[in-house]
Amino acid sequence: MCQRQTGTLVTLNLFQGPISLEMLKQVQHDIVIGVWLLGICCYLVFIVFSDFMRIFLIGFMGCGKSTMGRTLALSLNMTFIDLDTFLEEKYFRTIPQIFAEEGEANFRLKERKVLEEVAAFDDVIVATGGGAPCFFDNVDLMNNSGLCFFLDVATSSLVSRLITAKTERPLIKGKSPEELHGFIEGMMEKRRPFYEKARYILKGTEIRAAQVIELIK
Ligand code: S3P
Repeated sequence: MCQRQTGTLVTLNLFQGPISLEMLKQVQHDIVIGVWLLGICCYLVFIVFSDFMRIFLIGFMGCGKSTMGRTLALSLNMTFIDLDTFLEEKYFRTIPQIFAEEGEANFRLKERKVLEEVAAFDDVIVATGGGAPCFFDNVDLMNNSGLCFFLDVATSSLVSRLITAKTERPLIKGKSPEELHGFIEGMMEKRRPFYEKARYILKGTEIRAAQVIELIK
């Protein structure tokens, strides 16, 4: 190979002898390592410079995840996704239908599937179903792909909201206020460890969107 430098002809002698198999193997190895390193660098640059945001709202049925999600989406100019609605639209059936026809275990598999799907969307606020964080490693998936907020509302408030709610919820269907109270307390004991894995915990009867916005600023 020749190059002209300020009037002098410089010869770069790249091949000084026959290329051995060993040399070829070394070159091949170096190329593989190089491609790996380049890939890792690109990934890190993407992570550092991309300012996509995902917010997950978790908590027991009736804690106000969807209402909070809609308000946040409007204020932050992000897209709101209600995971239950997303699931119903994907499978063309309502949640009570899925529970009745396939049982809770299959519902949870579908829930996991849609969660994986939305966890890859950009700039979304996701209100999950109350049980979603408590199955598989769903809560870890949410923590790893966005900011997770647990809306921790007192049992008495949950009871009064759920008693008057219009949405049909298979797990609490037909329960009296007293039964509902006991059911929530029992479920909360099991679910709380999962909920409390959330990055942020907001406690109170009236959790406001402004509190979430303040935390993510
Ligand atoms: C469930 C909560 C519901 C829905 C399903 C199961 C639960 O969502 O996903 O009925 O296990 O707590 P909401 O929390 O939006 O009611």
